Amino acid sequence: MKTQPSTDRIIIFDTTLRDGEQCPGATLNVDEKLAIARQLARLGVDVIEAGFAYASPGDFEAVQKIAQAVGTEDGPVICSLARAIRADISAAAEALKPAAKGRIHTFISTSDIHLEYQLRKTRAEVLAIAEEMVGYAKSFVTDVEFSPMDAARSDPEYLYQVLERAIAAGATTVNIPDTVGYMTPCEFGGLIKGIKDHVPNIDQAIISVHGHNDLGLAVANFLEAVKNGARQLECTINGIGERAGNASLEELVMALHVRRQYFNPFVGRPVASEAPLTNIDTRQIYKTSRLVSNLTGMLVQPNKAIVGANAFAHESGIHQDGVLKNKLTYEIMDAQSIGLTDNQIVLGKHSGRHAFGARLKELGFELSETEVNKAFLKFKDLADKKKEISDWDLEAIVNDEIQQAPEIFRLELVQVSCGSNARPTATITLISPTGEELTDAAIGTGPVDAIYKAINRVVNVPNQLIEYSVQSVTAGIDAIGEVTIRLRYNDRMFSGHAANTDIIVASAQAYVNALNRLYAALQSSSFNNQPVVNQTTTISP
Ligand code: KIV
Ligand code: ZN
Repeated sequence: MKTQPSTDRIIIFDTTLRDGEQCPGATLNVDEKLAIARQLARLGVDVIEAGFAYASPGDFEAVQKIAQAVGTEDGPVICSLARAIRADISAAAEALKPAAKGRIHTFISTSDIHLEYQLRKTRAEVLAIAEEMVGYAKSFVTDVEFSPMDAARSDPEYLYQVLERAIAAGATTVNIPDTVGYMTPCEFGGLIKGIKDHVPNIDQAIISVHGHNDLGLAVANFLEAVKNGARQLECTINGIGERAGNASLEELVMALHVRRQYFNPFVGRPVASEAPLTNIDTRQIYKTSRLVSNLTGMLVQPNKAIVGANAFAHESGIHQDGVLKNKLTYEIMDAQSIGLTDNQIVLGKHSGRHAFGARLKELGFELSETEVNKAFLKFKDLADKKKEISDWDLEAIVNDEIQQAPEIFRLELVQVSCGSNARPTATITLISPTGEELTDAAIGTGPVDAIYKAINRVVNVPNQLIEYSVQSVTAGIDAIGEVTIRLRYNDRMFSGHAANTDIIVASAQAYVNALNRLYAALQSSSFNNQPVVNQTTTISP
């Protein structure tokens, strides 16, 4: 006898590390994935889709390590994606073994267009495969999720049949993807309602939704889906993902939080219930957003809802006047509810290691002793240049520390000369992998261009700089500048990030970080055999 899944709470399934990581340039190494997974656990997500274990050895290792380190008894469910193919499912099962709660998420397309042109299979064949592969996944784990890919463009009658068979074979969650971001809210809500009404065994599974943002409607579609019975939302931090991205976690969670009285009745709660609709600790949202942005190199647009730099800024005089008199005049939520603190000045030159470590703990960073020691050296260095160190500075230091680009070339010296009527000239020294000191100089259109040209002369890997951005962490002339860059090599993107009070140094360091990633990829055999946009292109969903 199957138990009825609980339905009065919304399950947050985070796919930043799988679907989010699939966007060009967002590739993360295993340590960075682990750092994000740990933060997602602190954020309180119910399920972490840690990767696609079969896609590459790196993905397998990431799923396995996350399962081991984050998939504890009281931690989130750890999930791996798998095509409806035995080898994929076996790899997912193997990688998930260390998790206390592991989930296999298997998928196959159900739309006629995918069946005809991509799978070259009949509806009957796909129906049989879905049933058989869910059963196969079930032989490894009790928690199996099934996705009919491109469900939104599939014939609903056929979709109902596939879902019924998948549930009968043991799927505990059925996920309805709008793979191409085609639907409008009313249609998507109707699709979920149709599934509830026409799939006879639907009460034995949780209905989940997954959607891309091609028309900017993913979040709206999901909220309509909740009203019609969906109880799991698949989303990513900052909405990163394939093409226009996935539904954004922070927007969904805050919509359900701020408007909980509107949504309560749809999940069977009294209108006035104050109980949160998700398990998310909203005060961790901002920090998670910053971490993902820093590690992936995917900047957050300033006007992005919830986590954009302007999301809580009031520029117009009328608004400022209102907010000063009563915040509720123009604010529907409190900046502190997403963890945006009042940028407190916390530490200074004389603060010791203990105070430093204690503040990091208060901010929710769980670092090893070695990491704290390394970050402390950076803090001391910063404190020499900047009198007062705020929480945001500490966060920049730690994020910089966590971002572990492989250290192949090490930046030893950067020096520039520039100004009006001067030709921007840079001299750099890098230490090579063999310990050799390599110095070169170049002239550029500006100081950063000159530095990058000088570095290129040493590293000698042709690449194209796609994006360069510098942002200050706090206000003030002595603020830390964070530089994020993305470069392209053979259609593949690499990101680099660095923070320093000297933006010239940060620019050089960010570039060396990105080149180190590129260099490491060139040395790995999988890159040479697979000159692709991202590691999973050949088999990615
Ligand atoms: O967009 C999609 O359809 C997917 C599935 C694998 C769920 O990512
Ligand atoms: Zn997707």
